[in-house]
Amino acid sequence: MDFMEIVKSRYATKKFNGKIVPESKMQELYEMIRLSASSYGIQPWKIKVVTDAATKKALTPASYNQAQIESCSHLLVFCTDTNLKGLLVEFREMLVKGNVPSEVIETMIKMIEGGSNSMTEEQQNAWLSKQVYLAAANAINGAKALGLDSCPMEGFNASEYSKILKLPKHLQPTLVIPVGYAADTARPKLRYAKDKIFI
Ligand SMILES: Cc1cc2nc3c(=O)[nH]c(=O)nc-3n(C[C@H](O)[C@H](O)[C@H](O)COP(=O)(O)O)c2cc1C
Repeated sequence: MDFMEIVKSRYATKKFNGKIVPESKMQELYEMIRLSASSYGIQPWKIKVVTDAATKKALTPASYNQAQIESCSHLLVFCTDTNLKGLLVEFREMLVKGNVPSEVIETMIKMIEGGSNSMTEEQQNAWLSKQVYLAAANAINGAKALGLDSCPMEGFNASEYSKILKLPKHLQPTLVIPVGYAADTARPKLRYAKDKIFI
């Protein structure tokens, strides 16, 4: 499927048929998500994968009872990792392993620290969570490329999710993406004309 076909046929699936996606296909999807772009390449995301029926059932009331949660195969809970200090430790290690010259590493880290120091905690978390949405874009288009359906969802209660999934405090559930095989049909794409967008 070429990319135009992917973006035309992907849609926010409202109900899945419950069929389980093979693990090999999910691994391909994880790889597409892993390779996402992020600011400086900092990758401030952790993705909790929920497959067991009992947990999906428990998360449903915390998701305004939306049918996607229980009917999907894999529920990907995209969390923003808000522990910037911890992220920078991992980031430095990754760059060292990648043979990036140490002066380049130090310059990058200083730039990130400088930028983030001028932000409030709220602004910092907003900056980090923006990166998570890019990974989510890879997930929804990547799923379609693999013959899967998905739905990006913000309609859930993040603090309830944290409790049910026992997430550490620095991981903030930001967006959830159920993945599976659709049991509904696509609606017409309602989008603005190009001349309203490209100004
Ligand atoms: C950030 C975000 C949050 C969304 N939250 C929900 C949601 O909670 N439930 C839902 O059914 N759809 C949700 N959607 C899907 C949108 O309603 C959908 O993408 C939009 O109407 C365009 O339709 P399409 O994706 O089918 O082309 C969300 C989409 C985005 C990007």
